[in-house]
Amino acid sequence: MTDILVVRGMSKSFGALKAIRGLSFSLAHGEILGIAGPNGSGKSTLFNILTRIPFGPDAGELVLDGKSLDRMSPRQIVQAGLARIFQTETDFETLSVLENILVAMPDEDFRHGRRDAEKRAADLLAYVGLRDQADRPASEITVYDRKKLMIATALACRPKVLLLDEPAAGLSPPEVTEMIELIRRINADGLSIIVIEHIISLLVSVSNRLLVLNFGELLAEGAPKDVIRDRRVIEAYLGTAAANV
Ligand SMILES: Nc1ncnc2c1ncn2[C@@H]1O[C@H](COP(=O)(O)OP(=O)(O)OP(=O)(O)O)[C@@H](O)[C@H]1O
Ligand SMILES: [Mg+2]
Repeated sequence: MTDILVVRGMSKSFGALKAIRGLSFSLAHGEILGIAGPNGSGKSTLFNILTRIPFGPDAGELVLDGKSLDRMSPRQIVQAGLARIFQTETDFETLSVLENILVAMPDEDFRHGRRDAEKRAADLLAYVGLRDQADRPASEITVYDRKKLMIATALACRPKVLLLDEPAAGLSPPEVTEMIELIRRINADGLSIIVIEHIISLLVSVSNRLLVLNFGELLAEGAPKDVIRDRRVIEAYLGTAAANV
């Protein structure tokens, strides 16, 4: 498999805090790559600097499908095919669920008029299981539905690579199971995916490969079942005492 995304030497500091320290990794075509790591290990910062929303890296290179994204604006990066969802809900609360999709859709979808655009938006909502919520204000739908709305909004941009930051945070166990199915379906339909999660069962069941970050560096990388048994990973999450039990 060739790589769809290549990250080389990414760094980002906030004052004296080195949130991401010379991080390099790649994502293969068609792969689901999981990212785990303790709170504050730099996972969301990594997505921020890759997409330049809201800020880019201090140093590092990013190549998507053979094309450098280093000089691109956030908008150009999305147009090149890299889209994300955020850890916290970022929808427009006063707009309806359908309108949230419409505002994310590229201009080309409106070429043949609003009706065509609305049809595509409705199809995207049906795809993530939100068909019956289309006309409700986004502020009134559940956390789970807002997660799915963010995903549909990202899909509206026709990405090649989708970055999911904690898509299952705050979901009930049956909702987590459904989210796993949705992530698999999006991947089966052709997207390569990087997913950040604290819910290890989700990472183990969807990921082809798992990275663990600690203090902005790669602590471990490999097959999910091996990585979660790695002594250094257990220590990073639970502390040395727990790892010795
Ligand atoms: N805009 C910012 N300004 C200053 N410090 C920041 C900023 N964003 C993140 N940080 C700091 O960088 C570090 C990494 O934060 P980040 O949000 O990337 O962690 P995370 O791995 O996503 O954590 P969590 O699992 O809790 O979501 C933390 O110490 C955080 O306080
Ligand atoms: Mg985070």
